[in-house]
Amino acid sequence: ARTAVVIPAAGRGVRLGPGAPKALRTLGGVPMLVHAVHAMAASRAVSLVVVVAPPEGAAEVKSLLDGHALPERTDVLVVPGGDTRQESVRLGLDVLPPEFGIVLVHDAARPLVPVDTVDAVIDAVREGAVAVVPGLALADTVKEVEPAAVPGDPEPVLATPERARLRAVQTPQGFDRATLVRAHETVTGAVTDDAGMVEQLGEQVVVVPGHEEAFKVTRPLDLVLAEAVLARRRL
Ligand code: CTP
Ligand code: MG
Repeated sequence: ARTAVVIPAAGRGVRLGPGAPKALRTLGGVPMLVHAVHAMAASRAVSLVVVVAPPEGAAEVKSLLDGHALPERTDVLVVPGGDTRQESVRLGLDVLPPEFGIVLVHDAARPLVPVDTVDAVIDAVREGAVAVVPGLALADTVKEVEPAAVPGDPEPVLATPERARLRAVQTPQGFDRATLVRAHETVTGAVTDDAGMVEQLGEQVVVVPGHEEAFKVTRPLDLVLAEAVLARRRL
């Protein structure tokens, strides 16, 4: 089956602070979204990238991408996004041509994911998994709490899950296309990743090794780290 990638990039990036929409903020002078598109196009298996742009910025994103050459094998489509990440992903899935049987979903906010991680996800789907997520063991111990009504108030601890069994998951997440589409058609309620929706269908999701450089740019300190990783690569 051929492989396409949907890149949700329609978020504002509230946690990053004031400025342009997060996907258009630059790293090493190049918009984060352009890094993310190139990271996906670096995989020889990827022949289509669907970028889900900020609703008012779709034309700007299209011309931005036209200005950064991609490998010959890779086509790019740009569509306007929605109010939630989930809705933006669905809008991207809606424009996929029929020949793509494998779909990856990748955050524009993870611009530095190495191609080996992308290929590992695609390989696991090709080998038969319906949903594959890259994940890393945690450095921090995690507590489940009763969230405080007032932010900053002490929060009672309910449980401490065994750290060795936890994984922090990243993107790209890879799917059998029909399974992901069914998840987006049937699952409602708050979800923070696509694999979580597939879990709700009762399907088996698997984790493959992720990569430190696939971290999500969320807060200002993450921009500092991303610039440092880029600078190290350019040495
Ligand atoms: N995203 C999207 N459409 C939305 C919200 C988010 O396409 N309505 C995308 C973001 O552009 C990002 C990815 O989903 O590439 C992961 O979301 P996140 O890191 O939370 O980005 P933002 O929602 O933009 O950031 P914040 O939550 O801090 O506002
Ligand atoms: Mg968000």
